[in-house]
This record gives sequence, structure tokens and C-alpha cells, in this order.
Amino acid sequence: MATGPLLWLLHGPNLNMLGQREPEVYGSQTLESINAQSVLLAQSLGLRLECFQSNHEGELVDRIQQALNQNVEGFVINPAGFTHTSVALRDALAAVALPFVEVHLSNIHRREPFRSHSYFSDKAEAVVCGMGPLGYESAIRFFHKHLLKPTTPSR
Ligand code: DQA
Repeated sequence: MATGPLLWLLHGPNLNMLGQREPEVYGSQTLESINAQSVLLAQSLGLRLECFQSNHEGELVDRIQQALNQNVEGFVINPAGFTHTSVALRDALAAVALPFVEVHLSNIHRREPFRSHSYFSDKAEAVVCGMGPLGYESAIRFFHKHLLKPTTPSR
């Protein structure tokens, strides 16, 4: 059985279409492949990673709330379009009070002006944007290095 601190990787709307969706902006890698790579990286660092995507704000709010009963130690989250709109998701993250890193595949500051504002960044431990899928890798490594309590290795 997998052991180690548990992180959740949460993806917002339309990220299920990665690979097909505006590849010139978001690249060609699918979400499935990003998730698989992220899980392998987490395992190599002694962490557990569970991935969840939804196109529905309420489902993401529910999922964030559930983290409290599941011993989750933090989130890596790409809120996607909800980045720029969702007080509800921001409030959910504040309610559970777990650390999170915000990730965007594209550089949101180099795009339409409305994308420059995030409802999450001022609460995030760190923000990664414009690095494509490497952003998820950086976020997981950052969690491992800086945000998790050291664990006693199991025998
Ligand atoms: C995004 C950027 C958002 O502005 C956009 O709505 C997305 C994806 C990114 O990963 O670059 O859906 O979060």
C-alpha cells in the first residue's frame, strides 16, 4: 500500500480537454498524461498524489471540503477559468486552511488582461505559471521540499 503524505492535484474546467484544447496555448500533453507523470514523481519523492478534475465549481468546492476527512496535507490546484471568477473556491480553500500551490500552464500575465487577476494567488504558498506541465512538477517538488512535515520512514 502507498504511504507518505497525501496531496491532491485539482484541475478546473476544460482541463479535461488538454491535448486538443488550444494546443498553441496549453501544449499537446493530455491531462491523463500530466496526472500519470505527477503521480510517478510524487511516488519517487515518497508522497501520495490523487488527481481530480471537474468542470463544475460546486464539485470542486465539495472535493476541497472533503480533504479534511481524508488526511490531505495540501493541494496543487489549477483552478483554470475559475481562477478569475470564483470566490466560492477561494472560500473553500480558506475554510479547510490547508496549504496550496496555484499552477497555470500558460503565462496568465501575458494574455488577456482579465486573466491577470487571480482569486487565489494572495493565499497561495506559491504560484507557477507559463511553464506548461513542468509547473505541476515544480509545485510537487516545492511541496516536498518546503511545505510538508518530515515523516519517519516506515520500516
Ligand atoms: C489556465 C489559465 C486560465 O486563464 C484558463 O481559463 C484556463 C487554464 C492555465 O492553466 O493556463 O483554463 O489556468
